[in-house]
Amino acid sequence: MTGVDRPSGGWVALVGGGPGRADLITVRGLRLLRIADVVVVDRLAPRELLAETRSGVEIIDAGKAPHGHNLTQDEINAVIVDRGRRGLGVVRLKGGDPFVFGRGGEEALACAAAGLPCEIVPGVTSAVAVPALAGIPVTHRGITQDVSIVSGHVDPSHPGSTVDWDALATGPGTVVVLMGVAALAG
Ligand SMILES: C[S@@+](CC[C@H](N)C(=O)[O-])C[C@H]1O[C@@H](n2cnc3c(N)ncnc32)[C@H](O)[C@@H]1O
Repeated sequence: MTGVDRPSGGWVALVGGGPGRADLITVRGLRLLRIADVVVVDRLAPRELLAETRSGVEIIDAGKAPHGHNLTQDEINAVIVDRGRRGLGVVRLKGGDPFVFGRGGEEALACAAAGLPCEIVPGVTSAVAVPALAGIPVTHRGITQDVSIVSGHVDPSHPGSTVDWDALATGPGTVVVLMGVAALAG
């Protein structure tokens, strides 16, 4: 596998690490990880992948455990921007895909506001990979033509909930609920 040219100046890549197995990251994601000066890693990102980083790399653990954040989102945005402004190459390594409940949009906006180039490297999302592991295709010809990926984190009665649960419950499509285990009935 050939590498990627190091862009001149600081850069940021929001890299989806995939759903768990280290070899489910994309080729491009791995290439960027191998040349990064700084890796800001999430709890759910495949940690084995850190073995691919070059010597001297700065590893920043962003944590994001449900009740034990190491860094707040604002702090994560700030550290990404800070390192990028210092001319370093930053990989923000996430679990699954950065734009599926990954807060990648906020990080991309922070980079844009700082004038830093930011590449999004999609990842294999758990929303598709986990059903696949169980042998469940999220769409299937003749059975379902749509799939909804929703967060189960916000209680449906909460004013901040934007999920139309009634429509999902009566619709024919596949529903994949992420962050839903804590809300399961006991
Ligand atoms: C904050 S979301 C991040 C989703 C991630 N960006 C993605 O595309 O897979 C975290 C939720 O994704 C789901 N999840 C992520 N990785 C998983 C895995 N390896 N196995 C099962 N569920 C997973 C769980 O529902 C978890 O609560």
